[in-house]
Amino acid sequence: MSSIIIALDGYSSCGKSTTAKLVAKQLHYAYIDTGAMYRAVTLFFIQNHITLTNPKEVRKALDDIQIGFRLHPETFSNDTFLNGMNVESEIRKMYVSDRVSEVSAITEVRRDMVAQQQRMGKSKRIVMDGRDIGTVVFPEAELKIFMTADPLMRASRRQEELLAKGEMVGLPEIIANLEKRDYIDTHRAEGPLVQAADAVLVDNTFMTIDEQVELVVRLADEQI
Ligand code: C5P
Repeated sequence: MSSIIIALDGYSSCGKSTTAKLVAKQLHYAYIDTGAMYRAVTLFFIQNHITLTNPKEVRKALDDIQIGFRLHPETFSNDTFLNGMNVESEIRKMYVSDRVSEVSAITEVRRDMVAQQQRMGKSKRIVMDGRDIGTVVFPEAELKIFMTADPLMRASRRQEELLAKGEMVGLPEIIANLEKRDYIDTHRAEGPLVQAADAVLVDNTFMTIDEQVELVVRLADEQI
């Protein structure tokens, strides 16, 4: 049985993380949510008033940032740590979502994150979700999925997620945020969000979570 890398890319709030963590759980693979890494960097930049247009300040900030994860084995969800502090709930808030794509478009930031992600996947047996996993981080990944879903469906899923965490946000604000992030993510110079030529396109608008997991596990089994 061989070990593989599963790269799961796609637009914001397509349910990538939910599917990715359940696939990882079923295959006994590691799971990395790369969006959480960019969110943690963004939180640090906000808290420390980093000037995004100042490369020296950005470099120094990146050197001061340590990101870690702690896995909950029952749910396979991760808590994200920024310099030893659990920031899992903070990085999901709207004020971070509002700034994250701007920060993620910075070349220095991307290079730093990509290098860390490549180290995490060195021994394979990993499911990684993000925007550039199949194109930049692991262009040689054995299985690449590109996820998409109807924008309104994505927005209402996001709204439910935020509500479950006690943040009440109206649909128009969520739709505007998703549109803004998708626009910046697909138009940036470094590592833009684009479907890899060899990725399997999955539109999950009318799929249940179980169906998505089953599909990805079946595709993975064909590679393993
Ligand atoms: O996955 P999530 O929606 O939490 O990602 C938040 C943001 O982080 C994205 O909108 C994108 O700007 C950035 N991101 C990225 N590259 C990745 C993962 C996330 O640029 N691999």
